[in-house]
Amino acid sequence: MQPVNQVWMSRTALVVLLGLLIAISDCSKLIKRPPAKIKSCADRPEELLEQLYGRLAAGMLSAYHHTLQLQPLDKENISCPAGRATVDGKHHLPVNINSISPWAYRITYNQSRYPKYIPEAYCLCKGCLIGPYGEENTSFRSTPVYMPTVILRRTSMCAGGRSVYVEDYITIPVGCTCVPEQKNPEHDSINSSLEKEKFKLPINKGEKPLPN
Ligand SMILES: *[C@@H]1O[C@H](CO)[C@@H](O)[C@H](O)[C@H]1NC(C)=O
Ligand SMILES: *[C@@H]1O[C@H](CO)[C@@H](O)[C@H](O)[C@H]1NC(C)=O
Ligand SMILES: *[C@@H]1O[C@H](CO)[C@@H](O)[C@H](O)[C@H]1NC(C)=O
Ligand SMILES: *[C@@H]1O[C@H](CO)[C@@H](O)[C@H](O)[C@H]1NC(C)=O
Repeated sequence: MQPVNQVWMSRTALVVLLGLLIAISDCSKLIKRPPAKIKSCADRPEELLEQLYGRLAAGMLSAYHHTLQLQPLDKENISCPAGRATVDGKHHLPVNINSISPWAYRITYNQSRYPKYIPEAYCLCKGCLIGPYGEENTSFRSTPVYMPTVILRRTSMCAGGRSVYVEDYITIPVGCTCVPEQKNPEHDSINSSLEKEKFKLPINKGEKPLPN
């Protein structure tokens, strides 16, 4: 009985081993396959990515707009929350109110640009709330932080019965930060290199006319 059992066992072992080998070879096939697929997969044309990105960017702004509208603080008449520091309460406040240079948002609307609605931050205090109880100190200054962005601006030109839009690079305030008050007011100007740059490009003349 014993030899038969041994033979059976070794056969079983062989079958298991074969199975394993097949499995391993299958695995290695599986592992090898993806790179071949990646190689044969062409990238999307730049124009399509550009369109997709444009749609997402516009969607992001409207989502942001929506979020801000839901924020109850936005509807209030917000003034500089100086000297209101209560350590417990502050933890529940959003970062823009909790900041030593607090800010709020307003939605700017312009019919002649796309997107029509753009949220902009504005500083609530002149100085910074750095006192022990959050008192305002005017040795420091709340100042907006700008982010460059691009919009489409409607021109008075018309092509094919539709308004012509041009690209316009603008900077929008996205929050406020605290800086030491400067002695020379010349540096205060937002006029510097960040000032919006006119880089006009007639978009409607291409193969992709914009609706409306
Ligand atoms: C708050 O609103 C009142 C009336 O609506 C107005 O008189 C006051 O100037 C506002 N305060 C601020 C800081 O905007
Ligand atoms: C909208 O944008 C145009 C073009 O820059 C500008 O002339 C106009 O004053 C803006 N309107 C408002 C309400 O901001
Ligand atoms: C403002 O901050 C400066 C620097 O920390 C300090 O010397 C000054 O006393 C502060 N002023 C007030 C009014 O708290
Ligand atoms: C800012 O720009 C305006 C118009 O371009 C100019 O009149 C003014 O002098 C500038 N201010 C500074 C501080 O450069």
